[in-house]
Amino acid sequence: MQVIIAESAQEVATLGADQVAELVQSRVDAVLGLATGSTPIALYRELIRRHRRGDLSFSGVRSFNLDEYLGLGPEHPQSYRYFMNRELFDHIDIQPENTRVPDGLGDAGTVGDEYEALIEAAGGIDLQVLGIGRNGHIGFNEPSSSLGSGTRIKTLSPDTVRDNSRFFGPDEFQPRLAITMGIGTILRARRAMLLATGAAKADAVRAMVEGPLSASCPASALQLHPRALVILDPEAASALE
Ligand code: F6R
Repeated sequence: MQVIIAESAQEVATLGADQVAELVQSRVDAVLGLATGSTPIALYRELIRRHRRGDLSFSGVRSFNLDEYLGLGPEHPQSYRYFMNRELFDHIDIQPENTRVPDGLGDAGTVGDEYEALIEAAGGIDLQVLGIGRNGHIGFNEPSSSLGSGTRIKTLSPDTVRDNSRFFGPDEFQPRLAITMGIGTILRARRAMLLATGAAKADAVRAMVEGPLSASCPASALQLHPRALVILDPEAASALE
């Protein structure tokens, strides 16, 4: 696991965008794995900026998002499909049909296997972008998730439901179930790049980088990945020894 401590959250986004740009420029039909949440927004803004400058085209790129809330359709403003359109896809030249987010309205019995088959048919993921939850989750692989897991339905932990309640209105339905790529799926990506910013992530980052490999910190599975890059701002890195 390679760890880079950037000077600021903005530099995390810039360095992350460099990695994406290098891949997309060297392989026009690259397969990107993408994440939602607060952390990658600055990365996506940086990618949009480079695209608008004419430096970066996504016209042949294919993408697979990590996860989606079960029960939310693509038009729901809290769905991750809606988030991705708003924060990235609507502002770059990626072909909408080349973007995949797990189907929140899909058949719970088959949606995971179908998503795995789509990833495989695309030739696998070249670069998986990740954030980390305060409890060490990656995707929605909560603590105790199997390190070999594939895409499947997961129950969100009370911590995660609480952390994500900031995105939902007081009377809005907040799902407790999600479809998520598994840890095994993430480990099969040819490269993984985890971004973390802010002091709230410091303990999870320490457990991921310095703790034992353990299902109680799902992100520690990245210790097994031969090409995992972790980019941190000083606050997220503050508990590292
Ligand atoms: C999002 C995802 C989650 C987030 C994590 C951090 O697709 O899979 O694992 O990356 O919850 O979220 P933020 O960035 O909002 O702190």
